[in-house]
Amino acid sequence: MEILKKYNDDLQAYLAKAVSHKEPRQLYDPIKYILSLGGKRIRPALTLMVCDFFGTDYKKAMSAALAVELFHNFSLIHDDIMDNAPLRRGKRTVHEKWDVNTAILSGDAMLILAYQFFENYEPKMFQELAKLFGETALQVCEGQQHDMDFETRDDVTLVEYIQMIDHKTAVLLGAAMQMGAIVAAAAESDKEKIYQFGRNLGIAFQLQDDYLDVFGNPETFGKQVGGDIISNKKTFLYIMAVGQGTLTQAEELDHLFSINPKDPTDKILTVKEIFLNSGAAEATRKEIEKYSNHAYSLLDGINISEEKKEMFREFGHNLMQRSV
Ligand code: IPE
Ligand code: IPE
Ligand code: MG
Ligand code: MG
Ligand code: MG
Repeated sequence: MEILKKYNDDLQAYLAKAVSHKEPRQLYDPIKYILSLGGKRIRPALTLMVCDFFGTDYKKAMSAALAVELFHNFSLIHDDIMDNAPLRRGKRTVHEKWDVNTAILSGDAMLILAYQFFENYEPKMFQELAKLFGETALQVCEGQQHDMDFETRDDVTLVEYIQMIDHKTAVLLGAAMQMGAIVAAAAESDKEKIYQFGRNLGIAFQLQDDYLDVFGNPETFGKQVGGDIISNKKTFLYIMAVGQGTLTQAEELDHLFSINPKDPTDKILTVKEIFLNSGAAEATRKEIEKYSNHAYSLLDGINISEEKKEMFREFGHNLMQRSV
């Protein structure tokens, strides 16, 4: 993304050096592998951008940014085991390329490496960053557990769904941004507002992720399209389709999301059609818009120039237009 390029170039150089350990290879190779696959790197770039926008040399936020990206990649390795996902960033997932045990331990090591990056800060800042990181990481686990629990439930409400994605995804975007503000020693009220901005954008981001999981282009998406349908994930699309669709559509969905066919091709096709015909796809796009707009409105009270606010809005806008 153009806006983040300035930060991403620097990040790339630091990330390449972040994990220099060599032995045992079975532990460190998967870490280097997942990091080498890239990804959008939006979270660490946001940490740097926020620090920059609050008037501090963004390189000071580099360690926090690296911690966030390592944590994110750890969560992806474990998430892919939990979701039984074959593809990540267009390549085989770690547990497929190696095996599940390797993916568990490499993921664990990555989480610890993430935490270690905070040791580069002085005690007072270390404490503030580590506190935020700990709270956030635990919320991600809570969200992930709810996501798994919902696979076998047929009565998940919209409120439960939003809370689940808030935890598994949105709080990390909020925390990534707040860390930039912490390093820049921004005012308490600004730290809180930038956190809420990131969090609301994060909810829109996960809604979009769920949308792309169904309607994304398999050639470019980098993940298995239809994966959420195969796993019976209770996404906004599903909940809206059951709520807004006809009784027949609701019953069919209820049935399809209780089975695990060996060949899921027909299931995916039927579900896709119902998501479109019931208006759920359209409703999801509206909801993405709603959370993005709410996020933008939270920028109003932040103590930065209008020009910088516009760059945050532009970033959000680009993010919601993405295809990967
Ligand atoms: C994927 O995050 C996991 C979600 C929270 C949706 P990203 O879409 O940011 O993944 P990468 O890092 O760009 O691959
Ligand atoms: C991911 O949610 C959230 C975390 C990794 C914590 P998803 O399971 O939707 O993410 P993808 O689609 O696999 O990237
Ligand atoms: Mg997943
Ligand atoms: Mg998941
Ligand atoms: Mg997803």
